[in-house]
Amino acid sequence: MKLKVRPTGVERVMREEDFIVSKTNPKGIITYCNEIFMEFSQMDEQELLGKQHNVIRHPEMPRAVFRLLWNTLENGREFNGFIKNLAADGGHYWVFANVTPSKDDKGNLLGYFSVRRKPSQAGIRWFEPLYARMLEAEQAAGAAAAIDASTPLLNQALDEVKRGYNEQVFALQFS
Ligand SMILES: Cc1cc2nc3c(=O)[nH]c(=O)nc-3n(C[C@H](O)[C@H](O)[C@H](O)COP(=O)(O)O)c2cc1C
Repeated sequence: MKLKVRPTGVERVMREEDFIVSKTNPKGIITYCNEIFMEFSQMDEQELLGKQHNVIRHPEMPRAVFRLLWNTLENGREFNGFIKNLAADGGHYWVFANVTPSKDDKGNLLGYFSVRRKPSQAGIRWFEPLYARMLEAEQAAGAAAAIDASTPLLNQALDEVKRGYNEQVFALQFS
């Protein structure tokens, strides 16, 4: 279920000390969210628990980013990235997200865990125009071919800076 609200373009900016935290079950259904999550999404626990995270999906985010997120998690690895999220009042907020699979001591998947922190301006400046180009390519290609159309744009941008995806994300957030 996605928000039906029209984006207003009004941004909420995370504070240095903020952590937006959520946990899900193995199907990606939200089972926990903290107060800061509720503040930024403008939703209460009742509206968030039991939903997928696409409840805060912003229509300007390219599909390929979420494909990368899920592929990374399904391979048992951590995903890091810059994500623009939609709030229930139509506002938006950028996050630097770390998403991890949680497993028990036998390696069985228990669920997923995400902690978002204030993103760097450098990260938003680099990814925002790239996401816009990726989205345009996805919309021109149509839903079925969207990811194949936009992934080369991401790879090309990474080739230009001679970095892998994680390397570029970390360089923009931490240097
Ligand atoms: C732990 C976890 C955290 C996630 N956080 C976000 C998020 O902050 N924003 C978002 O749009 N999608 C997030 N996702 C991805 C969503 O589940 C979903 O794939 C994405 O919103 C695209 O949805 P759609 O394919 O239905 O359009 C997260 C997934 C997991 C497992």
